[in-house]
Amino acid sequence: MEFSSDNWAGASQPVMDALSRHNEGMAPAYGADAVTEAVTARFREVFEIDVEVLFTATGTAANALAMAACSRPGGLVFCSDVAHLHCDEWGAAEFYSHGMKLMPVAARQGKITAQDLGAKLAACPEGSRLGRTVALSLTQASECGTVYRPEDIAALTATARQRDMLCHMDGARFANALVHLGVTPAEMTWKAGIDVLSFGGTKNGCWCAEALVVFRPEKLRDLVEHRARAGHVFSKSRFVAAQFDGYLADGHWLDLARHANGAAARLAKGIAASGSARLAWEPEANEVFAILSKEQIARLQAAGGRFYEWSKDGCGPDEAMVRLVTCFRTGDAEVDSFLSHL
Ligand SMILES: Cc1ncc(COP(=O)(O)O)c(C=O)c1O
Repeated sequence: MEFSSDNWAGASQPVMDALSRHNEGMAPAYGADAVTEAVTARFREVFEIDVEVLFTATGTAANALAMAACSRPGGLVFCSDVAHLHCDEWGAAEFYSHGMKLMPVAARQGKITAQDLGAKLAACPEGSRLGRTVALSLTQASECGTVYRPEDIAALTATARQRDMLCHMDGARFANALVHLGVTPAEMTWKAGIDVLSFGGTKNGCWCAEALVVFRPEKLRDLVEHRARAGHVFSKSRFVAAQFDGYLADGHWLDLARHANGAAARLAKGIAASGSARLAWEPEANEVFAILSKEQIARLQAAGGRFYEWSKDGCGPDEAMVRLVTCFRTGDAEVDSFLSHL
């Protein structure tokens, strides 16, 4: 009963097969190989636009390098107050961007609205000694397992654009959001005003494959150089490309995400029907947040359930909110076993 994180899963078999397939023979180093070229072309098909694609090893690196390429002296970056970029990345965005300041906006269930952003921007008028407004970063799916609709994204980016800001999406769980919405990758990104995307593969079936997908390369200054200096140019780039080759082929990435989201929905339905535990909110991707009694938590953990206690929000004295993450490996039997112990 493994619900700690989607990072705990291995890689999917088609991704592993692609790694073996592309292991044959010699290939030019540092991204000049045929697999990297083919995968870059695949990204262009997926996003229906001529994107630049730069691989990184981790999502943190992708986010931080995106911020580096947006950076300006005295720059302010707006994100939600639960953004991974803000809460879990050891100041990488600030470090790589030469000290841009993160401006957290209070989120509800992981998301911010255009109104929230507008109010925060109003408190940072042009010419303010706080700094200048440079970038917006949105997480899709959010850290709370909720999903921005394309119109929400468009409203947020339009607000940011009024102040000439660049718009970044942290897509560590991009596929989970996409299959939930049933829209195209283009509709969820550049058509809604996103300039650069951290495209995650690792949580959904790769083992070390993230990519910066750049929709407006002319605005993302020196990204290539920032990545090189940060040490994220892979000499054997073909192995990151190989993972994306297996991942993106035949809609595999979407199948994996559908499976993970389906497991979360099954879990959520069971929790809501249990009569003894309750959902903190409706999950929209592959993370379920639920309020359980401490006795239930202890019982589940004693039975081998693994998950994290998240917060005390909305909880009684003998309760806690837990986060339950599903992934492409989560089986129905695992979910049902959790529910029966609950
Ligand atoms: C929303 C979000 N963004 C970014 C990351 C960073 O990924 P990595 O651990 O590969 O640096 C994570 C990882 O948990 C995440 O949940």
